[in-house]
Parts: sequence; C-alpha cells; structure tokens
Amino acid sequence: KASERESMFLVSKFANQFFIDQLHHSTEGQTIGLSYFKERGFTTETIKKFDLGYSPDQWEALTKAAINKAYEKKYLEATGLTITKDQKSFDRFKGRVMFPIHSMSGRVLGFGGRILDNSKKAAKYLNSPESEIYHKSKILYGLYYGKKAIAQQDNCYLVEGYTDVIQLHQAGIENVVSSSGTALTDQQIRLINRLTKNITVLFDGDAAGLRASLRSVNMILAQDMNVKVCMFPEGEDPDSFAKANSTHVIEEYLETNAKDFITFKASLLIKEAENDPIKTAEVIRDIVESIAQVPDQIKRELYIRSCSKLMDVSEAVLFSSLDQILAKSS
Ligand code: CTP
Ligand code: MN
Ligand code: MN
Ligand code: MN
Ligand code: MN
Repeated sequence: KASERESMFLVSKFANQFFIDQLHHSTEGQTIGLSYFKERGFTTETIKKFDLGYSPDQWEALTKAAINKAYEKKYLEATGLTITKDQKSFDRFKGRVMFPIHSMSGRVLGFGGRILDNSKKAAKYLNSPESEIYHKSKILYGLYYGKKAIAQQDNCYLVEGYTDVIQLHQAGIENVVSSSGTALTDQQIRLINRLTKNITVLFDGDAAGLRASLRSVNMILAQDMNVKVCMFPEGEDPDSFAKANSTHVIEEYLETNAKDFITFKASLLIKEAENDPIKTAEVIRDIVESIAQVPDQIKRELYIRSCSKLMDVSEAVLFSSLDQILAKSS
C-alpha cells in the first residue's frame, strides 16, 4: 500500500505543476485564471509562493496530459483528480482556479478549486475527496507556510478560508492557518498545539456562521489552549479586510479586537438573552459548558469570577452549574 500512496503523491505533484503551468503559460490560464488572482489583489510573488494554478475548462485536459506522461489512470481516480462515470472520464476541477493543499513537509496532498463566476450554480469551492493521502480532518491549509511563524510568534490565527491565509501572508502576517470550511477537529487543533498554546480565531463578519463556530471553539479549550476570538466587520472577512488595509491597520485591528473567547462569548450571549429568564438560563449553561472544558482548575475559577460580573449572576450559581457538568463528564 505504501507504493500506492507514493503513486498518488506523484500524480498529485504532476497535477500541481500542470495547473501552475496552465495558469502562467496558457492563454486561457492567463486571461481567466491569472487575471482573477490579480483582481483579488494577489501579487505574482504570492501566486507563485502558494503554487496557485488553473485547471482548464476542458473535460480531460489534466487526465490526458497525465496519461501521456505515463501516469496511471487508477491513481488519477484514487486522488479524485479524474472522475470516471459510465466509462467516461473528466477532470474534477475543470474550469477552476486551484489552491494546492500541502502536508506539514510540503507535499501536495490535495486541492481546493474555486469557480470564477460566482453566479454559476456549481459549488463555489470544490475539494479533493478523502483518500489514502488526503484526510481533511488532519489537514490545516497554510500550516506548511506558517509553521515557523506560528512557533516564533507563539500564536496562531485560525481563519475560515484559503484566501484569508494567502492575503494575510501577503500583508506579512504569516502565523495563520485555515480549516477550509470544515468543522474544526481535535486532530487539527493538536497540529497547532505542538507549535503554540495560543490561538486567535478570526471569524468572517457574517452573524449566521458565528453561533455554530462558537461551539467548535470548546474543543480548543479542552486542549488547554488559550483562545481569543476576533470578529470582522459585517460583510468582511480577513481576506477582504487585509486587501483593503495596510499591514499596520490590520495588526492594529487584530490587537484591538481580539478578545478572550469565554469573556467574548459571555458578553455576546447575555446581551442576546435580553433579561429573559429562560434564555438567560440557557446562556448560563452554555457559558459554564465552555468553562467546564478548561482543564486547569485555577483558570476555571477565574473565568467563573469574571463571567459572574459580566452576566450579573452570582458565582454560587455558576459554580453549582459547573459542578453538575463536571460530575456528568467524569
Ligand atoms: N468552502 C467550501 N465549499 C464551499 C464554500 C466554502 O469548501 N461551497 C470552504 C473553502 O475552503 C472556503 C471556506 O470554506 O475558503 C470559507 O468559506 P467562505 O468564507 O464562504 O469563502 P471565502 O474563503 O471567503 O471565499 P471567497 O473569498 O473566494 O469567496
Ligand atoms: Mn492514511
Ligand atoms: Mn464565511
Ligand atoms: Mn470568507
Ligand atoms: Mn472571502
């Protein structure tokens, strides 16, 4: 099986180079793909650094090129680069700009591909399927490029998307990774945990996603990490914000708006409960649930104290709720 995995790595490497060549050297790639990236504000240097590419809008451009170079079709299929249905084969990423996804050591494991025309009905991003070499729950986009800075800065920014990682890098902020739209996993957090105990989660400025995302942050607390969160203005994400502002303004925004996660969540939710007793009770349980994740007892006590003040609830109530949750989980 090791040789099969090796063949999958090799065909992924070939595909990566094919997409890069198409972007920079084909007419279609230049006029459609390269100009798309330029419009997004990516410099040539950035485009090259992240190995961005273009997959031609033809049924079998990559598949044929690979087979011509004696790559076996079964590995194109195993990596999901080629889809075969009713004996017909076509390129999964046909007509998309390409973001290769690297392992910690820089091998290409898979791809994200974005459509160019938002009005199309197709999914905005398409990703490689799970395979012997691509396990999305164990991968963080940008980790290969950011691992050094994460260790050096002793902090990791966690963003939602590919372009957030890339745009922040271009602004000189390199300690950043993305879970690429999938719910954060314990394994992904462990990858960061080995480099730093400090995470700052940067949320897109769309309230809809926020509630669900807050839940996944509990998993970070459970690994005894220090979590801050930072919201972006309505309609903005780190990519659009970084594109529109200087490095100095971005850094200042992050410094001013990054708040301790539990404190942030408590003030946000208690405001939403509007003194309604039933809602308030739910909020209290929700917050205490987060506090219960924290392994360090001293930190838990400090959080209880500050949340008691923030939410105007007695410490006794919070402690008894905490004891209940801890009793259940032990
Ligand atoms: N995503 C996905 N499939 C989709 C939409 C999103 O896999 N149909 C993933 C992508 O990894 C994307 C991330 O979720 O980068 C965040 O989604 P979103 O904020 O909607 O996309 P952006 O990264 O902001 O993409 P863009 O700026 O290119 O529109
Ligand atoms: Mn495996
Ligand atoms: Mn989003
Ligand atoms: Mn976004
Ligand atoms: Mn975006």
